[in-house]
Amino acid sequence: EAKPFTEKYRPQFHFSPDSAWMNDPNGMVYYDGEYHLFYQYYPDSTVWGPMHWGHAISTDLMHWQHMPIALYPDSLGFIFSGSAVVDWNNTTGFGSAENPPLVAIFTYHDPKIVEAGGVDVESQAIAYSLDKGRSWTKYDGNPVIPNDGNQDFRDPNVIWNEEIQQWNLVLSAHDHVQIYTSDDLKNWKHESDFGIDAGTHDGVWECPDLFPLKVEGTNETKWVLIVNINPGGPNGGSGTQYFLGDFDGHQFIADSKDTSWVDWGRDNYAGVTWSDVPKEDGRRIFLGWMSNWAYANVVPTEEWRSAMTLPRTLSLVKKNDQYVLKSTPVKETELITDNSTKADIETVEISGEMTLNLGEVTLNQSHLTLELQVGETLPESFGILLENELGENVKFSYSTADKQFQFDRNQSGDMSFSDKFSGISVAPYKIGSTVKLEIFVDAASAEVFVDGGDLVMTEIFFNSQPFSKLKVFANGQSITLISAKAVNINSIW
Ligand code: FRU
Repeated sequence: EAKPFTEKYRPQFHFSPDSAWMNDPNGMVYYDGEYHLFYQYYPDSTVWGPMHWGHAISTDLMHWQHMPIALYPDSLGFIFSGSAVVDWNNTTGFGSAENPPLVAIFTYHDPKIVEAGGVDVESQAIAYSLDKGRSWTKYDGNPVIPNDGNQDFRDPNVIWNEEIQQWNLVLSAHDHVQIYTSDDLKNWKHESDFGIDAGTHDGVWECPDLFPLKVEGTNETKWVLIVNINPGGPNGGSGTQYFLGDFDGHQFIADSKDTSWVDWGRDNYAGVTWSDVPKEDGRRIFLGWMSNWAYANVVPTEEWRSAMTLPRTLSLVKKNDQYVLKSTPVKETELITDNSTKADIETVEISGEMTLNLGEVTLNQSHLTLELQVGETLPESFGILLENELGENVKFSYSTADKQFQFDRNQSGDMSFSDKFSGISVAPYKIGSTVKLEIFVDAASAEVFVDGGDLVMTEIFFNSQPFSKLKVFANGQSITLISAKAVNINSIW
């Protein structure tokens, strides 16, 4: 049963666990009207420990029901990250055509080997459910992909590949990903590798995801390979890179070996997408863990640790001859929008700083949309500030000289828990004559979507009082605020 969450810093419209430690989203699958979200969970503490799969269910991607733990660690090890699929054709034989099994594919991490001084031997295993994810049985032939000595060999992500009529699995293996095929989710063939000579390598590759996506407004399909990396993110610590390319079911060929980033903020990690979203819907829906390994274990919350991002729809567009992976908040956010409490701000020229009149809107739990126009001579910088009565703030701005957006949480409140927390995250970007900003502000986080999702920055913070003032500023030259709208967001609990 949902209980009101009232603790300090508790997100009101983002998923967080009832209590205790959470990291990566796992096993996201849609089945029979329900979105399942599993997650890395340690129920006995608010720091990382022996991993379980926690579980939650939603019918609308917004309101979540906490469910009993789905997978417990056992003699083969902790239950690390992975995915889940609906085995529609009962290829595993675990269910029947009438009642297709849900199959979870996860990593066993054997702490005994690590404790004995060995490399962290990890293997891949499966479990199934015949009751809509309520109870799970581990396969007695586990592991299905044993490990012949690879380090950091984990986070299997599976899709049914229509073209080859086989399952594809992608997993991370320290500094690259490996691609597999299978007919039955039990017997796997290693087909190819990707990444030794591509992407960034300042950390360990983790939590990959590989799926096709239509290029908007065309009949062209590209394959998207998401690969999380920690450390080595664009602004330090954890980050989520992606590659676009072609995939024939056996080998992924990237258009470019350069890394692109799903999100430039410091708090969107281990994100992957939902499996089996109905074809009529057609969306690829992404969810990330709204934290960063650089400080995740020490952020100042007491009952629980960390939350997920809002679910986001991924889309591919061609912009100036370049493909861009865009993220936008899912349309279901409408369901939690309180349209009766809103503030509409009219066109106004701003030079220096201006505080917007938010009326009855609670900035601390709101959705903001702003459209700004710049003249031919750009200001040195312009942007917005969320501030409280104590002067604590977070600032999101564009620097013309640096041609980048900046998320500044240097004065955001409590930062004492880690010397890695303060600082300014930056994201290179070329603005046009107008800039659209869409921001979801929750108790302790802001997700900023620029120009309809061309650029995203997600960051958390721990302000000692709620932010209550929204300021817009422009230095050097004035800007025009074409429109600004603020709307309350309802609590989901
Ligand atoms: C990513 C990760 C995964 C691993 C899990 C362990 O954050 O390190 O690679 O499976 O967390 O909890």
